[in-house]
Amino acid sequence: MKKLVVFASGSGSNSQSIIDASERKELGATVAGLITDSDDIGAIERARKHEIPVKVISPYDSQTFPGELKNQLALWKPDLIVLAGYLKKIPDEIVKTYSDKIINIHPALLPKFGGKGFYGLNVHRAVINAGEKVSGCTVHFVNEEYDRGTIIAQKKVPVSSTDTPETLAARVLKAEHDLLPSVIKKIFNPND
Ligand code: GRF
Repeated sequence: MKKLVVFASGSGSNSQSIIDASERKELGATVAGLITDSDDIGAIERARKHEIPVKVISPYDSQTFPGELKNQLALWKPDLIVLAGYLKKIPDEIVKTYSDKIINIHPALLPKFGGKGFYGLNVHRAVINAGEKVSGCTVHFVNEEYDRGTIIAQKKVPVSSTDTPETLAARVLKAEHDLLPSVIKKIFNPND
């Protein structure tokens, strides 16, 4: 059985969609652990309810962060690392060690509306302000540049003229919950 390690920084609804798909035996993978950057986020409670180990690793000490990540990942030995609403940049040495084994979900149609500062409602505000009629989400491989890795898949949603950043965020988030598990399934079951 393949192993996933999920990274999260927020409510964890994306990590929940992965946990649920894994428990429905849809992925051919189990969640070996959750890594977060703080200890008071919803994703932790979600993992604990499914008896998934949690490791909080502070990203704020650039001296210790890469080594702590490296040690934890060496313990869990993931076949795939999934950034599911994780807001910190993965250190280059981790990206190199797990080259093409780290994916990220971004709440916009990259390469537009991506990069530093484009996270959460900022993304949807920019999409609305740009007058876009279509938005969506993107799953891509992680490289050394924010949101610039090879795109794996995207899912589009309409943007309504009455949308607020919040209403658009909710529509995109639902699309994320479909797209991310489907990409993980495809990675582990390419011939399905
Ligand atoms: C959401 O805004 C999502 O678009 C992005 O990360 C944020 C946190 O989502 N991927 P989650 O509920 O913590 O998974």
